[in-house]
Amino acid sequence: MDQSPLVQWQDMAEDCANKSADLVGASPSEIVYMSTLTVNLHMMMASFYKPDSKRHKVILEWKPFPSDHYAIESQIVWHGLNPEESMIKIEPDDNYLIPTEKVLATIDAHADSTALILLPGIQYWSGQLFDIPRITAYAKERGIVVGWDLAHAAGNVELKLHDWDVDFACWCTYKYINAGPGATAGAFVHERYGKVDFVDNSESPTYRPRLSGWYGGDKRVRFNMANTFVPTPGAAGYQVSNPSALDLASVAAALSIFNKTSMRDLRSKALVLTAYAEHLLDQINAETDAAKPFFKIITPRDPAQRGTQLSVLLREGLLDDIAQALEQNGVMCDKRKPDVLRVAPVPLYSRFEDVWKFMQILRGALGL
Ligand SMILES: Cc1ncc(COP(=O)(O)O)c(C=O)c1O
Repeated sequence: MDQSPLVQWQDMAEDCANKSADLVGASPSEIVYMSTLTVNLHMMMASFYKPDSKRHKVILEWKPFPSDHYAIESQIVWHGLNPEESMIKIEPDDNYLIPTEKVLATIDAHADSTALILLPGIQYWSGQLFDIPRITAYAKERGIVVGWDLAHAAGNVELKLHDWDVDFACWCTYKYINAGPGATAGAFVHERYGKVDFVDNSESPTYRPRLSGWYGGDKRVRFNMANTFVPTPGAAGYQVSNPSALDLASVAAALSIFNKTSMRDLRSKALVLTAYAEHLLDQINAETDAAKPFFKIITPRDPAQRGTQLSVLLREGLLDDIAQALEQNGVMCDKRKPDVLRVAPVPLYSRFEDVWKFMQILRGALGL
């Protein structure tokens, strides 16, 4: 037992939070591991999306991951509102990207009637990294609650959620964090919403309203089985149920690898690795008929506006054959129908040589 890298099972979620401070740029008390991503988006919206007759809108982007779209839409309907009136979708420019100025202009256009803005840190399809600090500050100055879905950003780019004053954020652990499909997800709740005050020594504390369950209750009294809910201070007080120890073991293992390095170091390798992949992709296109290129990289060319992922928009009809050829050569590469291949060289385990090998296989698949 002494040699186990795991902590006692009641402390496992907290251990994962402790291991995530650098990952998301927050204090461990602002981080909680619980449930899965969409469930956590709902849990956060239950506490943070408080529509009233004046402010009822949610600003999102044109092509969110469908689960995020459903979550937002269903929250609006749950509050008895009409998604046609309360969902504001920011459309991209012709290049599939959404300039920050457009986000800010949308905030301005709906400033008085918006309750919440919920955007992806990195857009899963285009790979665009949003300007989280600027958008957060701009929306908050106008009284709008700001949440981020960091599914494709956590473990990929540097984040400073506390300093950026984000209200809440959610992420899964089965992309860049490598904890395995369906593993326990993470959430950030800014410290100001985690306060638990015992006014005049009363036994019933005041705290931000949320959907509660016994695992959000303070560990010291959790097993007293009393019906006065005393939340754990911080993000941990937003837990509901007893988490799966097996799932948390895989999250803890995955995070312990991140703790051997830093997001700053990973990011600095990622910048070069992705630039190398971009260079080799451009070379392929340079060798083909300029009027009929095989593909177009739709992810921003500016490294500050992307993570490791390059979204390669293939010429119509190529995706299935290319994906099959890649797979036959041992490359597992994500495809998003109808035409996008997401190429993401991950600094934790991809080498420059892997990027080069991938390009040789891609060339073969394209008949070059
Ligand atoms: C951006 C985004 N949102 C939501 C989800 C759904 O996650 P979950 O099945 O854990 O709810 C995913 C999963 O890939 C995702 O990438």
